[in-house]
Amino acid sequence: MKSYVWHPNTQMTEWDSFDKITKAKGMWLIDSKGNKMIDAVASMWCNVWGHSNPQLVKAITNQSKKLQHSSMFNITNEPAEKLADNLVKISHGMHKVFFSDNGSSAMEISIKMALQYWKNIGEKRTEIATLENGYHGDTFGAMAVGYVPEFFGKFKKQLFKTIQFPVPNKYRLPKEYTFSDYQNECLEKIEKKFSKNKNIAAFVMESGAQVAGGVIIYPKEFQKKISQLCKKYDVLLVLDEIATGFGRLGSMTQHEEQKSTPDIVAYGKMLTGGYLTMAATLANKKVYDSFSGEFNDWKHLFHGHTYTGNPLAASVANENIKMYHKNKLIKKIQKTSKIFEKYYKEISEIDIVGDIRHKGMLMGIELVTDKKKKIPIHPKKSINKIFYEEGKKNGIYLRTLGNIVMLVPPLAISEKELDLLLKCTIKTILSARSQVI
Ligand SMILES: Cc1ncc(COP(=O)(O)O)c(C=O)c1O
Repeated sequence: MKSYVWHPNTQMTEWDSFDKITKAKGMWLIDSKGNKMIDAVASMWCNVWGHSNPQLVKAITNQSKKLQHSSMFNITNEPAEKLADNLVKISHGMHKVFFSDNGSSAMEISIKMALQYWKNIGEKRTEIATLENGYHGDTFGAMAVGYVPEFFGKFKKQLFKTIQFPVPNKYRLPKEYTFSDYQNECLEKIEKKFSKNKNIAAFVMESGAQVAGGVIIYPKEFQKKISQLCKKYDVLLVLDEIATGFGRLGSMTQHEEQKSTPDIVAYGKMLTGGYLTMAATLANKKVYDSFSGEFNDWKHLFHGHTYTGNPLAASVANENIKMYHKNKLIKKIQKTSKIFEKYYKEISEIDIVGDIRHKGMLMGIELVTDKKKKIPIHPKKSINKIFYEEGKKNGIYLRTLGNIVMLVPPLAISEKELDLLLKCTIKTILSARSQVI
C-alpha cells in the first residue's frame, strides 16, 4: 500500500518503506512480519515501564469512560489538578503548573513566562542566554534557544538572537586546556557577560546534560555554579528537564541533584510513562506572582493549547508517578544502570569508538574514523539508517544522533534485558563498521 506519511528528520528518498510496528510488549517492539526489537530508545526517550503495561492502560481506559477531554479554559478537571499537585511536590521551590502537550511547547511557554516576567515587573530585560549545542525542540522559540546549526541553519534569519556560552565537553576540549580550567573559563565567560549586560532576562539550559546535542554530561557543580550566577545577577534560570528529569539520569529531578533551584522548569517525555502526549511548565512564586493584577493590566499569560491539561494524559501521568514511588524506580535505575559500566571496556576497545558517555539510563557512544584525530564518522548514507538496519538484524531498535549511537532504554528495563541490549549494541557497531568508515 502506498504510504502518505512524511517521517520526522528523515531523507525520505533513502527509504523504500518503513517497518510497521503492530504490537509492543514490555521492552519489545514487534513488527507486522513478527520481528522483535528491543526498544533501545524508549520510543524517543519517553517510555518508562515498557509497552502495554496493564496498570497504565487501565488508567487510560478508566478515565476515558468518565471524561476523555475537556478544556482548561474557564474550567478544570480532577486528573490535571491532581497532576499539578504531584508535580509541585516533586519539584523543589515550584508553585504553579502550566500544561501543554509536547516538550517544544513546554519550552515555548517557559520562554514566554520568562520574558513576560520582566515586562510584568516593569523592567527592560529582553535577551536570552543559553549554552551552545543545547536542544529544546523544533518550534521557532525552541529552535532559537537550542540552536543546533546543522538542524536549524535554514531558519537562522527568522530566529531571535540569543547569547550562547560554551559547554565543557571533556572529549573535545580546546587545545591547551585542562578540563577543570576549561570549566572555569566557561563559567567566567558567563559571569563576565552577566556583570556587563543588564538586559539578560533568562538563562535557558538542559538540566543535568545535553542529550540531543551529543550526550554532554555536565561536570559536577557546573549547573550549580550557573544557578548561583543567575541568582547573583538576577537572571531567571529556566531548566529543561524534558529529556533528563523523571529518572533518566538516575534522579527524579536533575535540578535537585545539581543543587540548582530554577525559576521555571519544564517536563515532558516520561511524564506519562510514554503513553500519551503531555508536558508541563512549572514556575516559582516569584515568577507566578508577577502575572497577578487587575484584568485590564493585561499581565496574565497569553498562552493556551487545545489539549492543555488533557484528563486522559493527566490520569496516566498520575498513575505513572504513583508507580515511580511504589516501585522505588529511582533506586532501581541506579542499580540497573551499573550494567552499562560492565561494558565500558569492551565498547571503548572497538576501533571506531572515540568516547562513551554515560549517566543513569543514558549512554552515548561517539564514533570516529580515527581515535587519535577524533574525526567523526561521516559515511555517504545516513548513519542513522545504517544503524537502524544493522540494529534490526541484531534485535534492537536504534536511532543515532549524528555520529553518536544513543542508548536510552525504558527506565524500568531489567538487568537481564539491559545486558542483552548492550551485547546487541556491540554486535551492531561491529557489523555496521565497514559501512561507516
Ligand atoms: C531537552 C529537550 N527539550 C525539548 C524537547 C522537545 O520535546 P518534544 O519532542 O516533545 O517537542 C526535547 C526532545 O527531544 C528534548 O530532548
